[in-house]
Amino acid sequence: MKRTVKDLVNLKGKVVLLRVDFNVPIDKNGKILDLNRVNAAIPTIKYLIEQGAKIVIMSHMGRPQGYEIRLSLWPISLILMQKLNTKVYFSNKAVGVEVKERLHSMNNGEVLLLENVRFYEGEVNCDMKFARDLASIGDVFVNDAFGCSHRKHATTYGIARLMPNAIGLLMEKEVNVLTQAMENPKRPFVAVIGGAKVPYKIKILRRFIDQADTILIGGAMAYTFLVATGTAVGESITYLDSVDVAREVLNYAAQKGKKVLLPIDHVAVRKGSTKKFVTDNLIEDMVGMDIGPKTVKLFSEEIAKAGQIVWNGPLGKYEDEEFREGTNKIAKAISVSKAYSVVGGGDSVSAVKASKNASGVNFLSTGGGATLKFIEDGSLPCLEVIQEKIR
Ligand code: 3PG
Repeated sequence: MKRTVKDLVNLKGKVVLLRVDFNVPIDKNGKILDLNRVNAAIPTIKYLIEQGAKIVIMSHMGRPQGYEIRLSLWPISLILMQKLNTKVYFSNKAVGVEVKERLHSMNNGEVLLLENVRFYEGEVNCDMKFARDLASIGDVFVNDAFGCSHRKHATTYGIARLMPNAIGLLMEKEVNVLTQAMENPKRPFVAVIGGAKVPYKIKILRRFIDQADTILIGGAMAYTFLVATGTAVGESITYLDSVDVAREVLNYAAQKGKKVLLPIDHVAVRKGSTKKFVTDNLIEDMVGMDIGPKTVKLFSEEIAKAGQIVWNGPLGKYEDEEFREGTNKIAKAISVSKAYSVVGGGDSVSAVKASKNASGVNFLSTGGGATLKFIEDGSLPCLEVIQEKIR
């Protein structure tokens, strides 16, 4: 068991370097579209305020190449000011004299948000000099950035190797929920998996086949699986070099007596056209874009029977509003089901929220790639570098 922020004693006056994942969705002008990740980090920040620590918050946003005003964390400092009952300062720099001076003038229980750490090359390269510069201002490091703890970066991984450390309350919750769901599932356990890339999802599919009772496959990935069963997919996206792997996955499920369901109808377009239609058979130049109504019904029936559901990845081309219906209907089916449900991945979480029934889902994970990695491996690199609890 990893040490948590609650195991840290005498935090009064100590400088806590807190890594969070404020990589929130924004539009092209930088307007924040969803605050799920900010809200999820608040309990740890509030706990540290109550303990009288000086809290230095570090986060990334987007994938900038150097400074990009659109990806500045400044707007988030304004949001923190509204949510926290303390002074919140913002530093245009993540390291250097400016940060040290601000820290020096801060009182216990106050917060300093540093500028986007990915404005510095040293972050993604896990440059230990950058990590040391950051570590030099703090007494202890707390990692509450579940969403990016599959990345070995300076502020998620490097810094943890330089100073006493612990995980935050969000990280603890994510780890406990996902571990429980995968290792001690309520039955029947239905896994719903979508998205595009088969090779990237192979390990996770095997893990679901080991642990779940029924696996529902949608999204672009489904077409590769359909090809593996000898079904025509027209001109739909297919990873031909992954067909053998998909076949192996299906054989593995059959050996284990697990049920794998693939789409039985599709919302499609003809290549070069935008006119959509529903078909059972993807032939000629048809391109599958979303699951069709019969598949929605088939999948929803399995969901209704489930004791537990874990869902990751959209079931159609979700980024295009025209092809969101299948994903949205599955989100609705999950949110109204009585099963214990865990949903991860940006598009799946958005679909649940759009279903207006988000409270019907037991846990909305803040991770996308991190959730998948955790389900695959049962841990994350940045979790591994955190100290164990002293028993
Ligand atoms: C995410 O949004 O999944 C995390 O914040 C990690 O972001 P990244 O994929 O840009 O590393």
